[in-house]
Amino acid sequence: MKRKLFHLLLAAALLPLAGFAKPGFTMWQLFSQVNTIGNSYVFLTDKGRVVVMDGGMNDEALYLKGFIAALGNEVEAWILSHPHNDHVGALTEILKKPDGMKINKVYYSRFSDALVGLEQPYDQYAREFYDELDKSGIETVNLTEPGLTVRIDGLNFKILGVTNEELTMNPYNNSSMIVRVWDKDKSFVFLGDAGVECGDKVLNGPYRDDLNCDYLQMAHHGQRGCSEEFYKSIKFRACLWPTPSWVWNNDAGAGINTAHLKTFDTRRWMDEIGIKEHHVSWQGLTKIE
Ligand SMILES: [Fe+2]
Repeated sequence: MKRKLFHLLLAAALLPLAGFAKPGFTMWQLFSQVNTIGNSYVFLTDKGRVVVMDGGMNDEALYLKGFIAALGNEVEAWILSHPHNDHVGALTEILKKPDGMKINKVYYSRFSDALVGLEQPYDQYAREFYDELDKSGIETVNLTEPGLTVRIDGLNFKILGVTNEELTMNPYNNSSMIVRVWDKDKSFVFLGDAGVECGDKVLNGPYRDDLNCDYLQMAHHGQRGCSEEFYKSIKFRACLWPTPSWVWNNDAGAGINTAHLKTFDTRRWMDEIGIKEHHVSWQGLTKIE
C-alpha cells in the first residue's frame, strides 16, 4: 500500500515535467514597456510552440526578445496586423539582430507600394520592415483573401479580414488584418487598428459570426477604431486593451479626459454592453490560459 502511494506521489511530482500542459494554449498580452501604443501578444501551445501577434514598438524589442527566449527562442508563426511601427517595430529590430531567435513563418497581408505611400512619415517604417523581412529569407504567407484557418497543436487561428486597398481614408489602420484565435475553451479576436470601415467590412461579410468571442482586442488601442455599432453588434465578454495610461485616461499632461482622444467613448460603450473584465496593457502583464 505504501509502495503504491509512493508511486502515486512520484507520478504527481513528475507530471509538469512530462509535458502534460493544459490543452489549447496560454496567451499573454505584454506589459507596455515604454508607455506607448505597442501592440503585442504571445501564445504558447500545449506542445510548447510559440505564436506571436504583432510584437510592439522598436524600443520594446529587447523585452520581447527576452520573453520569447524564455519560451525556447523559436517562433512557429508570427502574425502581423499591419506595418505601423507600433505593431512591427519590435520585429523589425529582431530581424536586424535575431540573436539566435528562429522564426519559422510570418503570416501577413502585404500592402501594395501604392498603399504604403499613402501615409507619411509611417511609410519609411513600413518599407524598412518589408526590406528586413525580404532579406531574412523567412517563409511568408501573404494573405490576399480572408478565410485561411491554421492549426498549431491546440491553437487555431483564422484570418477574418485582410488588406483593403480600396479604403484610402485612414489607409494603414483600415488595412489591418483581423484574426480569430481559439482553442476548445476560449476564443479571441484581434482587431489590430481596424477603423470603422475595416470593421464594418468584416461585420457585413461571410465571417461575421467568427467575430463573436470571449476576449476582444479593442481596435486602434481602444479609441477611434471600430464603431459603436460594431461593438454592440457582436458578442464578447472581456476586453484586451493594448493601451498606454495616457490613452486610457485621455491625458496629454493636463489631467484625466482633457485631451482629444476618444477612449472614454469606447469605455462607456463597454459599460453599456455590460463588460466587467478588462485587461489593459499599461496596468501589467495579462496571462490567460
Ligand atoms: Fe497601432
